[in-house]
Amino acid sequence: MTLPRIGVFDSGVGGLTVLKAMAEQLPAHYLYFGDTARLPYGTKSAETVARYAIGATRFLEKQTIDLLVIACNTATALALPQIKAAAHVPVVGVVEPGAAMAAEVSQNHAAIVIATEATVSSHAYRDALQRHGLQSLEKACPLFVPLVEEGWIEHPVTEQVARIYLGEATAQAPDGADVLVLACTHYPLIAPLLRRIVPESMQIVDSAESTARVVKKMVEENLMCHPERSEPIGERSRRPPIAAGSSQHRTFRFYVTDSTDKFKRLATRFLGRQVDNVEHVDLEEGIRN
Ligand code: DGL
Repeated sequence: MTLPRIGVFDSGVGGLTVLKAMAEQLPAHYLYFGDTARLPYGTKSAETVARYAIGATRFLEKQTIDLLVIACNTATALALPQIKAAAHVPVVGVVEPGAAMAAEVSQNHAAIVIATEATVSSHAYRDALQRHGLQSLEKACPLFVPLVEEGWIEHPVTEQVARIYLGEATAQAPDGADVLVLACTHYPLIAPLLRRIVPESMQIVDSAESTARVVKKMVEENLMCHPERSEPIGERSRRPPIAAGSSQHRTFRFYVTDSTDKFKRLATRFLGRQVDNVEHVDLEEGIRN
């Protein structure tokens, strides 16, 4: 039995929080693509993000994958339908799993969503939460991404910024909002800091964790058929069945569009382990080295 090959796409290093959550739950061969040369996506238009994401999808498909996870909240929020249309494997985004988990834990059917500016403007979370019967307030927190990348995880400046953002969000939130959705790849790193700021009664939902559960279920239930086709597709149909609980060792491969050294440095912080196996990729030219 072979392990599934899971492609993971993000604008940069943040999607490693999703990779970490998946790797803890599911043995697989993980192929991670971080578009580090073009991040942040959180300030870009939907057209641009869709174009970048489709380029990355094509690249990952060439490496042979059974499933593609869009770890980037912004790319999911702005371009999931376009990515799904371009892909030849099933695609999982982070918005729906995050919204479904929020609905599961909310008693009052009301949530606060914190995310990048682009994710908030798309209202993808508001709409997904509404489909689950929840009202929400979406709050853009653009300073969190650079603060986390700076390594200011437990830092007075980050705490001060968080108090301001969350104070503003709480003032405008629907009555009884009892869930805080971390709708950006970088935010799980500051979850302990946010935990201290929000009321104890407020549940924190992490899209990374929720997505990992969905992916695990898909693999275990062998649901990796393309939604528009009835047969398993791609290389997988020519290989032995995949196994969620196989004793084979999971492997990690990383592809980035900017400096591999910078990625390795940041990745160690995000993933909590040393990262090797990083290749530089130029989407126009293919792998350079
Ligand atoms: N990965 C992005 C997200 O989850 C955050 C970083 C960026 O703006 O590119 O929204």
